Amino acid sequence: MRSHYCGQVTEALTGQTVTVCGWVHRRRDHGGVIFIDLRDREGLLQCVFDPDTQEAFAAADKLRSEYVVKISGRVRPRPAGTENANLATGKVELLAKDIELLNRAETPPFHLDDETVGEDTRLKYRYIDLRRPQMQKNLRLRHDVIKRIRDFMDANGFVDVETPILTKATPEGARDYLVPSRTHPGKFFALPQSPQLFKQLLMMSGLDRYYQIARCFRDEDLRADRQPEFTQLDVETSFLTQEQIMALIEGLVKDLFQGVLGVDLGTLPHMSYEEAMRRYGSDKPDLRNPLELVDVKDLVADVDFKVFSAPANDPKCRVTALRVPGGAKLSRGEIDKYTEFVKIYGARGLAYIVVDDKTKGRDGLRSPIVKNLHDAALTGILERSGAQTGDVIFFGADKSKVVSDALGALRLKIGNDLGLTATGWRALWVVDWPMFEWDEDDGRWVSLHHPFTAPKPFDAAALRADPGATLSQGYDIVLNGVEIGGGSVRIHAPDVQQAVFDLLGIGAEEQQEKFGFLLEALSYGAPPHGGLALGLDRLVMLMAGGQSIREVIAFPKTQTAFDPLTQAPSEVDARSLRELSIRSTVQPKEAPSS
Ligand code: AMO
Ligand code: AMP
Repeated sequence: MRSHYCGQVTEALTGQTVTVCGWVHRRRDHGGVIFIDLRDREGLLQCVFDPDTQEAFAAADKLRSEYVVKISGRVRPRPAGTENANLATGKVELLAKDIELLNRAETPPFHLDDETVGEDTRLKYRYIDLRRPQMQKNLRLRHDVIKRIRDFMDANGFVDVETPILTKATPEGARDYLVPSRTHPGKFFALPQSPQLFKQLLMMSGLDRYYQIARCFRDEDLRADRQPEFTQLDVETSFLTQEQIMALIEGLVKDLFQGVLGVDLGTLPHMSYEEAMRRYGSDKPDLRNPLELVDVKDLVADVDFKVFSAPANDPKCRVTALRVPGGAKLSRGEIDKYTEFVKIYGARGLAYIVVDDKTKGRDGLRSPIVKNLHDAALTGILERSGAQTGDVIFFGADKSKVVSDALGALRLKIGNDLGLTATGWRALWVVDWPMFEWDEDDGRWVSLHHPFTAPKPFDAAALRADPGATLSQGYDIVLNGVEIGGGSVRIHAPDVQQAVFDLLGIGAEEQQEKFGFLLEALSYGAPPHGGLALGLDRLVMLMAGGQSIREVIAFPKTQTAFDPLTQAPSEVDARSLRELSIRSTVQPKEAPSS
């Protein structure tokens, strides 16, 4: 129907007759002349109707926002002074001759340029929301990234294999989405939290290099970077070492940034989990932020201040300082707000020392706690944190996890609030993760990655002897403080896999019931193998400069895992439930009494 996209009509076409199709973005009536900004996926084009072309003019007069039209006319330069430098088509306009109304539109629930529209409304009318240029750009960026991934994987000998969606639980740490089986009453499929076990089976099948752009399903608390269904670039390889797998993935991520954004990510540094937690209070440190945590446990072990000395003498605790250059300018109210902020993470307070004048010793410090610190502690803290006149030092003293979480989050917040965080890209690998973490509440070990991650050294007896001290062959890739991917070398020996299940408290019967097929497959000649999955939504979100992965998913769900567009999830009729041998415990809503 068209000769050109709206956004392609530039001065190169001056004098030519073109036909464009699209949506009425805006209609302006300039005393006898009508301007229609026509929009399609490539951009906007200004179309001018003057009263000489009577029929077209009359038709244009009736156009409203989001009407779908086809317009033909001659491309001409805009009069001097009326060019729009923000538009690719801003030097020209289309002098309309013919117009055909292809479809009308109800008054849309919001105008595309309206920045104030709530997300629920945008998601309910997602097909209108997606007409916005930014959303079109995001979806096309996603396409470009996926295309480049496929080219890269193909060039490196990877084979794309699909794995089942109706399957058995894969433990990735979330709840499963379950699907009842009609043909097996009382039994359920689980949707995959990832293709983890199938990709390992593919290595045992001799495939050697597998990848898939895979949909994953996890019923977990949602955040800006979490959706109940999301997409991974899922990868698995055989006979490669941890370093070789990481180098391969690093090559891919660098290729994506170079090819799609023209950005050189450089060589990714490797940082141990221990160092990341110690210096940044996070296993996904944002290295664009210059602030660092400094432990001062040894300096305050014998001070009178119990808030510090008690945790300083407890091996499960941290006493940690966060120096903020230029932070002395923070008002009392701002410090109070940060104190409230760290409470979200379980901190009980936020001690601080403001360094008004370092040359004056104690007298140059403003703080509710210096009176409780002896000279040696104070000097040690100032020295180790590197504090200068004009800085503030914040403190966390509590269980290690609370301090890391609280000061790690505060570090990010202050970095943004005070404009200390640099722009640009900082990626790294986080390596040397512990195999397990002790869950105080449940009194048991839990895996830091999934339970198929290989220990270092790869030895069942050593692992059983000291599970808490054993590191894994797992690795995460982190970009600008976002975990964009994670993976590991896997367990390929049944006795090591058994040891991990045992330590996790998964009994023999449960092992057979849940993972019998895996243990069996491991016993029929499993090659050493390993891989990783990149969170595609997160990666594209970062590349698009977005704040939430919902901005790069065409039809996402809300924070409560609801789709306002289709109204899913929704009730089903009694008959469907009966067929599935299911009875709901939810009382049906009473019909409103009239
Ligand atoms: P993991 O659970 O770390 O590893 O997931 C890999 C990556 O997927 C992304 N991701 C998510 N993105 C959006 N919404 C979610 N709910 C969500 N959960 C995870 C993250 C994460 O880094 N099978 C292993 C991979 C492996 O070992 O090869 C796995 O799924 O970016
Ligand atoms: P208090 O003696 O409890 O009034 O606390 C004195 C100062 O220490 C206040 O600034 C509190 O915010 C701070 N504080 C209290 N508990 C902690 C803690 N666990 N970690 C860091 N600072 C704390």
